[in-house]
This record gives sequence, structure tokens and C-alpha cells, in this order.
Amino acid sequence: MSGHVLTVCEDAAAAARTAMERWIGISQDSIARRGRFVVVLAGGSTPKSLYELLSALPAGTLDWSRAVVLFGDERCVGPDHLDSNFRMAKESLLGRVPIPAVNVHRIVGENGPQKAAAQYDGVLRQIFSAAGAQDAPIDLTLLGMGADGHTASLFPGRDFSADVSLLAAPAVAPPESPVRDRVTMTLPAFAASANILMLTAGAGKRQMVGKILTAAKTRPNPILPSSLLTCRGRVEWIVDRAAAPV
Ligand code: 6PG
Repeated sequence: MSGHVLTVCEDAAAAARTAMERWIGISQDSIARRGRFVVVLAGGSTPKSLYELLSALPAGTLDWSRAVVLFGDERCVGPDHLDSNFRMAKESLLGRVPIPAVNVHRIVGENGPQKAAAQYDGVLRQIFSAAGAQDAPIDLTLLGMGADGHTASLFPGRDFSADVSLLAAPAVAPPESPVRDRVTMTLPAFAASANILMLTAGAGKRQMVGKILTAAKTRPNPILPSSLLTCRGRVEWIVDRAAAPV
């Protein structure tokens, strides 16, 4: 099982640059090794500056024709909605780079949580079955964390045992969230990643980063969903100084 490790960067911009360097390295290595790079994108607002950095790289740095893009979670709204994770990724990255549209697999949130989750489960199964026996189906998963310890749309108190044979599932966000109906990839799906990057910034996350890292080491806890994340390699937390546990 993988371990959670911490990388502290000077500020949020430096954290985004570090994540960009990881992305470039993993993408180039995956394409050289198996001819494709399967990446899961995070929602929320923190990854936007990373996406903008990636979209501004000199042409040819990344081979977008061999990238396959998935989404870790989505809100049940249309693709142009202000709260759509797909919309944010499209505006800051996918709409600015030469990636073939067929390589981008969005969660069709407007179909509602049950139907969209079942559809996405099927999409993931197809992509997973294309991986060679020795390869992880996902090369890189990018995730964020909420101040309550959630990641993707895996919120505290979820019945994780119900997800054991699912790759995508419906989810309900807490009442204060702008969009409560969600679809999320599950822990078993994330566990099929070669690498996970947790990009987190801001003093508001500091206490929870500390709790998660301790729980991940000692006793992963469903009340702290990010502590339950595993993958084939490392779960690397890339945080700015403000979010670094003291
Ligand atoms: C979402 C998410 C969610 C997000 C965290 C961090 O769709 O809301 O995928 O898990 O990554 O809440 O969000 P911020 O980056 O906005 O703090």
C-alpha cells in the first residue's frame, strides 16, 4: 500500500509549479513506456493555476494526442454551468491545448447522479480494461481537499463499504455546498492510480492536512476521507507554506 508524503512549497504559485513538473515527468514517462497518459483532473478552484501553467507550456512539451483525461468528480449541472468542474478545466486547460475531443471523458452531470454515475462507471471500466497487465490503469490522479477532509466528492460519513465494487458512484455534498448532487470516482478507482497528487493551499486547510497525514499513517478514518486514499505509488501532498502542518 502507498504512503502519504508531504512536499511544502513557498506559496500557492510554487505549489502549482511543482505539480506542473510532476505532471510533465509522469506524462513523458507514461507515453514513453506505454504510449498513453491517463490523467484524472480535480475539481474545485485550487487546480486552476496549474491548468493555466500547463496550457501555457511551449508547444511540444506535452504530447496531448496521447493524453486521456478523466474527472475525479462532478457536480450535477450542465457543462457550461458556473459550478461545473468540466467547464473550469475546459476554460483553463482543455480548450487551449491540442487534445482530441474523444480523449476527454467528462462526467455527464446533467443526467442526474444515478444515471451519470452508472455511465461513468462504464467509461472507467473500458479505459481500465485497455491497460496492460503490468500498468496501472491511471498514470496520474490530481485531487484537492476540502477543509472538512473530503476529496473528490467523497464526504465525511460516506458508507465506503458500499463502493467496493464501483468505480464511480452518486454522492451528496453537505447542505452548504452550492450543488449537492454529485458523481464521484470511488476509492477503488483512485487506488488504480500509479500516482496521486493532492494540491492544497491556504491556512484554512492547515489543521486538516495535519489530521489527514496523521490518520493516513496510523488509522485511516471514514470521517477523514482523504486519509483513506491509496494508490500504487505515493499519495503526494503538494501544499503551500500556509497549509503546511506545523
Ligand atoms: C469539487 C471537488 C472537491 C475539491 C475540494 C477543494 O468538485 O468540489 O473536486 O473535492 O477538490 O473541495 O476545493 P478547492 O480547491 O476549491 O479548495
